Amino acid sequence: MVSCAIIGATGLVGSTFLKVLEEKKLEIDEYYLFASARSKGKKVTFMNKEYTIEELTEETPKRKFTYALFSAGSSISDKYAKEFNRYGTIVIDNSSRFRMDENVPLIVPEVNIKEAYGKLLIANPNCSTIQAVVALKPLHTQYKIRRIIYSTYQAVSGAGINGINDLIETSLGNEPKKFPYKIYNNCIPHIDVFLYNGYTKEEEKMINETRKILNDETIDITATCVRVPIFNSHAESINVEFKNEFDIDNLKQLLAKSPGIALVDDTKNNIYPLNTFATNKDDVFVGRVRKDFSLKNSINMWVVADNVRKGAASNAVQILEKLIYQKDTASI
Ligand SMILES: NC(=O)c1ccc[n+]([C@@H]2O[C@H](COP(=O)([O-])OP(=O)(O)OC[C@H]3O[C@@H](n4cnc5c(N)ncnc54)[C@H](OP(=O)(O)O)[C@@H]3O)[C@@H](O)[C@H]2O)c1
Repeated sequence: MVSCAIIGATGLVGSTFLKVLEEKKLEIDEYYLFASARSKGKKVTFMNKEYTIEELTEETPKRKFTYALFSAGSSISDKYAKEFNRYGTIVIDNSSRFRMDENVPLIVPEVNIKEAYGKLLIANPNCSTIQAVVALKPLHTQYKIRRIIYSTYQAVSGAGINGINDLIETSLGNEPKKFPYKIYNNCIPHIDVFLYNGYTKEEEKMINETRKILNDETIDITATCVRVPIFNSHAESINVEFKNEFDIDNLKQLLAKSPGIALVDDTKNNIYPLNTFATNKDDVFVGRVRKDFSLKNSINMWVVADNVRKGAASNAVQILEKLIYQKDTASI
């Protein structure tokens, strides 16, 4: 009997887990949905069946689920993920808690799924990193990346239900509760907390997670992460310098045939990736691919993906799908 617990099932990512799992119909016999005491007893329709949300407690890990998908924030992952592992449950964690732990693989299926096999704890990367590395992986393999400059335009849904509420409420003239300023009519160059060096933690996550996933500590990376008044799908301007020379048409063809990427790049007809088009899809949309004439061997591109799906829920479910397909087991 294969079972799966969803931790944080009432949240934005958690409810998207349910949507993606309904679409994929994985070989899982039983699901169990958990959230905080606030949601205990709430009814949710999933797979044409009514489920009751249970409260996550210290007794929950002892139920020995086969798999658990976590999306209830870092403190819940910190307290519970390894407890689930202790009872043999394979955990895929969406929070940032274990991402940079050297014993925990940080997985994007198109890039490094093999590192997940045999592991009890698997980390899902930050949303803005996932879409970037899907686009960068084939380019790195072919042309060897020397340096990356990230500039992000991140949707409010990246901050969960409270982020969405802030855009709605501040558009009505009310005060923000989630973001430091009114997000309506503003771009806020501040995601997560500021660090000692002037960067934000979101920027640091993009830098460190990119190196870990691409398995290359030599890549120079800098990032500026900005919250924009968009409900869903993150957009990123990515400038990349390669060690090797490239032909721009070959580079575009490489992107077009690589897994998880949809090349949307027809500027003659004003066609390029847009947030509204990427929303509710799992592909990473890449366009505006062009040479950076200011520096040898470099390009600019525009990368857009649904941050709640590919940036969180779909990526985690794709990992789960691969584990099930490989009949992967992990030992304690
Ligand atoms: N949104 C994104 O694009 C995105 C992308 C990548 C990663 N993530 C990560 O995914 C996680 C969830 O994000 P979200 O956007 O889905 O947030 P959210 O909409 O605020 O949902 C939070 C979820 O956590 C649950 N929760 C909170 N406290 C809990 C507790 N004490 N015990 C059990 N469950 C508890 C909530 O349950 P109640 O409803 O009962 O409060 C809710 O189900 C975070 O770690 C976030 O960093 C989010």
